[in-house]
This record gives sequence, C-alpha cells and structure tokens, in this order.
Amino acid sequence: MFLFCFIQNVKHLNYLCPIVYLFRLSPCNMSKKNKLARFAENKTFPHLFQVSWEQISNGPFTMRGQWREQFFRNNHPIVLELGCGKGEYTVGLAQASPDFNYIGIDIKGARLWRGCKTIQEQNITNAAFIRTKIQHLEHFFAKDEVQEIWITFPDPQPRSSKENKRLTSPVFLSRYRNILSENGIIHLKTDDTALYEYSLEVFENENIRVLENYSDLYNSDCCGKAVEISTFYEKIWRSQGAAIKYIRGQFAGSNG
Ligand SMILES: C[S@@+](CC[C@H](N)C(=O)[O-])C[C@H]1O[C@@H](n2cnc3c(N)ncnc32)[C@H](O)[C@@H]1O
Repeated sequence: MFLFCFIQNVKHLNYLCPIVYLFRLSPCNMSKKNKLARFAENKTFPHLFQVSWEQISNGPFTMRGQWREQFFRNNHPIVLELGCGKGEYTVGLAQASPDFNYIGIDIKGARLWRGCKTIQEQNITNAAFIRTKIQHLEHFFAKDEVQEIWITFPDPQPRSSKENKRLTSPVFLSRYRNILSENGIIHLKTDDTALYEYSLEVFENENIRVLENYSDLYNSDCCGKAVEISTFYEKIWRSQGAAIKYIRGQFAGSNG
C-alpha cells in the first residue's frame, strides 16, 4: 500500500516537474537566467497578452467580445487551448486551419514563450496566447465568443479536496458554458485514467454529449487532430507506455 501511494505521488509530481524521473531537459530545470530572458522577450510579443490581477479586478479585458474584430481582424471562429504549456495545439491547429483563430492560455510564462516564439518565427497570424489563470476566462471572453475548447494533459489533481481545480470539474465547465457558443465543443486529452473516468461522469451529469471517446487513442481507429498533434507532456507519457485517452463532447442546449 505504501509503495502504491509512493508511486502514485511520484507520477503526479511528474506533472509538476517531468524531470523528477525522466532526467531530461524540461522547463523545470531551466536556469533562472534563461527564464528571465524568456520573460523579457515575452513583453515584446504582440500576440501575447499578460494581464495583472490589478487589471483584472479593474474590469473586463479590452478585447473581451471583440477578439475577432480588434485582434484577428476576421470573422473566423475562436478555439481555445487551456493549460496549453508550450502551445503545441494552438500552433499546430493554427497552421492546419487558417480559417479558425486559436488562443492558448497558461499561467507559466516560460512555457508560453515557446509557442509565442514559433508564432513569430513562422509568421502565424491566426494564433495568440494569454498568460493568466483559467479561472479568469470570463474576464477575457464574452458569452458565445468561443466555439471550441481543447484541454490538453491537464494536471489530474487526484485529491478529492482539489476537485474544483480539475479543468473538467463542474465549476470549470460552468465557466466554459458562459463563453461557448451554442453546441460548443470540448476536447480532452489525458493519460490519467482517474481523470478520464471522472470527466466522463461529470460530462454526463452536466449535459455534455460525448461525441467521441477513446480509452487508448493510438490503438484505435480515431483520426484527425486528436492524433495528428502531440504535446510536450503527451510525448513524455507515450514514451512511458501510457495509453492516451481522448473525449470530444458537445455542450448540448447550453445557451438556453
Ligand atoms: C501538465 S501541463 C500540460 C501542458 C501542455 N498542455 C502539454 O500537454 O504539454 C499543465 C499545464 O496547465 C497549466 N495550468 C494548470 N492549471 C492552470 C490554471 N488554473 N490556469 C492556468 N494554467 C494552468 C500549467 O501551468 C501547465 O503548463
């Protein structure tokens, strides 16, 4: 029992810092100097929005409700990647689908730097990033402004006392409901069996229709974006032999 708990804890520690047992270069062991250099460069990216708590408490973000007109300057649908880390989905989807706008959100600036840099190097115009807590989504987006949400390898938050921090908990789903258009889509990719099973249960209770559900994505007949793009954490888990799980759900009748 003790050994089981220890192994579980080490696995979840790895979510915070993959270097714990992989011994490979990750954002966690980046030197302070490198981090500061990234933070400094982050300030120069026109496609990265970093908003302080003070600004948040002073009222809605200036682009709220107007991302398409004011930032992207088109009328294309908006898709978010939450807890995007280095933003593999934001960048990969933006390259593959120019008729959509993509916004990655994460609190960690040094990770976001990677996605921002790629956008700059490849001159991608249909993607942006926001550095903020996902808890503040409604500060940045108005009702109906977002069409789809990707949640890629979120921290599983295994303790029941932390349930409200899980990105598929009812408290987060209600935030998503407040910004998604009618019949909005949610995608979840995870290696974590408990989070996957928990999410299926919550989706059912929250009237989210499951359109696709794979408990072992890469040993399935699934095709499309779920298998075409791999994130940093996904590569780590796959190299450990983990089965990747994928759910695509639809907020049925969400905007009554
Ligand atoms: C396990 S990592 C996954 C990163 C990336 N999606 C991937 O698959 O490589 C989880 C990410 O979610 C971010 N995150 C977790 N909770 C968050 C929150 N409440 N607000 C903003 N970011 C959050 C973390 O900073 C971290 O980068």
